[in-house]
Amino acid sequence: MRRFILWALTLACICIYLFVTAPAELPKQHAQTSDAHEIDVAVMFHAVNALNAHARQIYTREIVGAGKKVGLKFGEDWKEIGVEKGPLPALFLRELSFELEKRPEPLGLYLGSDKPINPSNLFKGDTAVDYKTVVMSREPIFSTLEGYGSIAMFPDFASAPGCVSCHNEHKDSPKNDWELNDVMGATTWTWPDSTTSSDEIRQILKTEIEALGDAYQNYLVKVSNFDAPPKIGPEWPNSGQFALPDKDAFLEAVLNAASPEILTTLIGEK
Ligand code: HEC
Repeated sequence: MRRFILWALTLACICIYLFVTAPAELPKQHAQTSDAHEIDVAVMFHAVNALNAHARQIYTREIVGAGKKVGLKFGEDWKEIGVEKGPLPALFLRELSFELEKRPEPLGLYLGSDKPINPSNLFKGDTAVDYKTVVMSREPIFSTLEGYGSIAMFPDFASAPGCVSCHNEHKDSPKNDWELNDVMGATTWTWPDSTTSSDEIRQILKTEIEALGDAYQNYLVKVSNFDAPPKIGPEWPNSGQFALPDKDAFLEAVLNAASPEILTTLIGEK
């Protein structure tokens, strides 16, 4: 119980720090230590990936999975005018990737595979070689890529029956025998340098949270133009209502889920 309280307090501090009270300037000594570019960039990759992985899980389960049960629809054509759908999980990730691209921080995000439904998601060249290692080891890998700097690939597992059935039945899928727990792809991150600092990690997490909020907001904007839009507010589809959480409620759920993993990554227990 004491550990839990300590943990909860630390988490609360991180959230408050990230969102509310990040001081404009740290005392000089602190600034010097935290500015030192001596942290392996793998720590940053683990942290940004943890945030995205939890967002993807919550989006897949609570928005797409539960949303379908109350009548919401999702598809590849979601952006087309007149289509009343939301983005599939892979397209939600692409939305996040677009939103990151708009920002000055050079963090790249890409979901690739060697048997993709969409040919633009095919790993080529060196990334194809690295991807084979990810499939075999089922572990993330960190390496360098010419033109990009550092690259990290995290396995994307077929974690739900829906992943397998949808990909196996999809008309454009080059592979029709996916099984549960297969590595179906790799969430791939790029960053120009091989080392980073705690300030930089904090900044990039803040940026990712903002970009994630904007990616989700793009979906809410689409939904608000439906003939009969769902209610947007604090309620989630799993309440049984034709409702979607607003941006703040969505981000809060993602942060609650991702913070323990981000914290253990940052304090170096992983
Ligand atoms: C309802 C159908 C559907 C479901 C469910 C689904 N996907 Fe996909 N997935 C797609 C489509 C369609 C694309 C291609 C999107 C695009 O145009 O980039 C895709 C893309 C991907 C990609 C990028 C490579 C590719 O195939 O283009 C990966 C990796 C992936 N999905 C993994 C998963 C995993 C893991 C799950 C379950 C957690 C999942 N998908 C659930 C339809 C689905």
